[in-house]
Amino acid sequence: MSAPLPPGQRVVVSEFAETPPEAIDTFMTLEPMPPPEPSSLDARDVVVAIKSASVGWVDLLMTSGQYQHLAKPPYCPGLEYAGVVAWAGPEATGVAPGDEVLVDGFLAGPRSLGEYQRWGGFASYAVAPVEAVRRIPGRMSFDEACNLLGNYETAYHCLVTRGRLKAGETVLVHGASGATGLAAVQLAKLLGARVIATGRSAAKLEVVRAQGADHVVTTGAGPLKEQVKALTGGEGVDVVYDGVGGEISVESLRCVKFGARYLIVGWAATPFVARGKGQRGAPNANPLPTNLIMMKGLEVLGCPTFIATVNDPSLRPPRLEALMRWFEEGKLRPHVSHAFPLAEFKAAMRAKWSGEVVGSCVLHP
Ligand SMILES: NC(=O)c1ccc[n+]([C@@H]2O[C@H](COP(=O)([O-])OP(=O)(O)OC[C@H]3O[C@@H](n4cnc5c(N)ncnc54)[C@H](OP(=O)(O)O)[C@@H]3O)[C@@H](O)[C@H]2O)c1
Repeated sequence: MSAPLPPGQRVVVSEFAETPPEAIDTFMTLEPMPPPEPSSLDARDVVVAIKSASVGWVDLLMTSGQYQHLAKPPYCPGLEYAGVVAWAGPEATGVAPGDEVLVDGFLAGPRSLGEYQRWGGFASYAVAPVEAVRRIPGRMSFDEACNLLGNYETAYHCLVTRGRLKAGETVLVHGASGATGLAAVQLAKLLGARVIATGRSAAKLEVVRAQGADHVVTTGAGPLKEQVKALTGGEGVDVVYDGVGGEISVESLRCVKFGARYLIVGWAATPFVARGKGQRGAPNANPLPTNLIMMKGLEVLGCPTFIATVNDPSLRPPRLEALMRWFEEGKLRPHVSHAFPLAEFKAAMRAKWSGEVVGSCVLHP
């Protein structure tokens, strides 16, 4: 490193709250951060000066320990981030200071397993092992680059690996204005499917339509079944991508063709499925009626991207190869509706929690 790095700042979660809003109000602070000291790092480590960090739903749920994976407090949140290489160890081959990179949240940051978990993206700097550091594909900005892997790998795992979505099929995407939902809309269109996108806000759904959805349906404006049946000539859809959960899941079971694939992606509408404060157990889990599953001959498919990939690492190389090619070609590009300076991390997290964001929200350290 030529000149010493200036001091920075980082967000710290001091302990798990009962809920994410309580974490934001009570247990999260912005603290001074000394720059990482190269003499204390591994020869394959890379120091990234962070330009943009994604503020995702999972980042929020982790603050109350209501996500399946726990980062041990005190910790710095920020699953995915992008920035400029500030220092690269002597054995960090292929990476040099000044490179514009994104960091793979599977291999570093609070969602990863192991010692790099402590370096989150809501900070001026993070340290990642060289294998977690990737050149930013295509002509993407830092704001776009920090929203690539988690969102699009989820969409790919759900629609392609689990859902076997084919060109010409119709897919119903719930939570389509969300980060993973919008990635699913884009990916489904790229695969040649027809997309019916749902959400609570007509204004947000207009953005989703501009991002490629063929039809948009505002929930709460009449029975979902009638609207979906009207759009599919009475047949129903081939695939449901459900990141919302709760009532809409049960309604969706009436919107499908016989033998449809039902993808359980998440439950943004019912975030308190698990207990708060990092306690294990899910007393409020969403039930699904077995009569409808049986009579419709449905395949109900759980789609946990990270857990499935830990169980079967061979899932990831073809997924990344396909996605990186599409990113390079500009065929997939995240939509980022909100950006905040790091000091306003509470406003950023509240915007995400309250549903103001379309696609992704980022912090600028
Ligand atoms: N399977 C996996 O591997 C995986 C990976 C990442 C995330 N997830 C999960 O997938 C879900 C979505 O994640 P995300 O990152 O896309 O979240 P997100 O960006 O916050 O989007 C969630 C969307 O759900 C809708 N929504 C939220 N609350 C709702 C409510 N009360 N009723 C109806 N709709 C509601 C919102 O759309 P409108 O405001 O337009 O209604 C929102 O845009 C979460 O449960 C997350 O934990 C799963």
